[in-house]
Amino acid sequence: MKDLEKKENIKILAIESSCDETAAAVVVDGRRILSNVINSQIDIHKVYGGVVPEVASRKHMENIDPVIRMALQEADCRLSDMDAIAVTYGPGLVGALLVGVAAGKALSFSSGIPLIGVNHIEGHISANFPENPGLKPPFAALVVSGGHTYLAMVKDYGVYEIIGKTRDDAAGEAFDKVARALDLGYPGGPKIDKLAKEGDPEAIHFPRANVGDSPMDFSFSGLKSAVLNYLNSQEMQGIKINKADVAASFQRAVVDAITERAMALCEMEGIKKLAIAGGVAANSSLRQTLEGSCKEKGIEFFSPSLVMCTDNAAMIGAAAYYKFVKGEFADYDLNAVPGLGLSAGV
Ligand code: KG4
Ligand code: ZN
Repeated sequence: MKDLEKKENIKILAIESSCDETAAAVVVDGRRILSNVINSQIDIHKVYGGVVPEVASRKHMENIDPVIRMALQEADCRLSDMDAIAVTYGPGLVGALLVGVAAGKALSFSSGIPLIGVNHIEGHISANFPENPGLKPPFAALVVSGGHTYLAMVKDYGVYEIIGKTRDDAAGEAFDKVARALDLGYPGGPKIDKLAKEGDPEAIHFPRANVGDSPMDFSFSGLKSAVLNYLNSQEMQGIKINKADVAASFQRAVVDAITERAMALCEMEGIKKLAIAGGVAANSSLRQTLEGSCKEKGIEFFSPSLVMCTDNAAMIGAAAYYKFVKGEFADYDLNAVPGLGLSAGV
């Protein structure tokens, strides 16, 4: 059995399979990445315009063993060198999650190395740690991914206070749906990001929805409908659509809504550190705008590199280290929890 009292030079093998990336990584002390292998299924799913859950599960099953082997190989480690095995257990697609959870449990059971279950959203936030050694709680966090949108205070490692979340679509979902309406393909976020660079963000005014009783919450479905209505009405009038202008104006509306709330959170909490996370955090306009607003207000701005924004296993290894330190290990009844949210004491 491993020495669970040891808190330094802790090597964690992390596994992630919640959506369409089969990933494994080796991370030391939550901050030093020895390997970060990502096998993306995007090329397979883009034929269908989105992730097909059953196909994702099958591909994870094919890929999980070689990806784990590669992560150990690239880290120049053996399984027996690991102090823990961490795996994403939710949120995500149930069949996809189960492949990673089963692999993590099997490796842990056969080797006697302890198992740690990690919340995927907590993983996204923790993606900031390896590349920003100076980032320590407390800080404000903005999670904008394909399935989730959260504004939270990270009070300590693994201790969160949710300040705002989306009432309907996640930010990434809005990007993907609008991209689909513009025939840009899947995933839509990067395509809109690229096309928006050629468009005028002031060309069309799309609404910035406010949630009346809860000003820190987000709502993106009204914005998505406004874009769809605009496209329909232009088409019906026989007016040629300028896709770059639509992309730029839509993106501006999302970026405005996010920036406004993130700044309000920092002000409200009197906090001078903001970290962003999740696939949409790769958006060039969002990164630029938030960085500018933070600079103006004397707030330190932290963001993961692009590859650490979208799904990967190094972020799971980073989150797992702080669970290891607290002795939060999982039993072999660990199961996939597709609807897992970010809660106070994940
Ligand atoms: O975090 P992630 O990899 O998966 C989830 O946990 O959901 O996020 C994927 C989402 C997709 O909706 C994708 O369109 C979006 O992140 N995304 C972007 C960009 N890159 C990825 N959205 C806007 N701009 C980007 N550059
Ligand atoms: Zn994700």
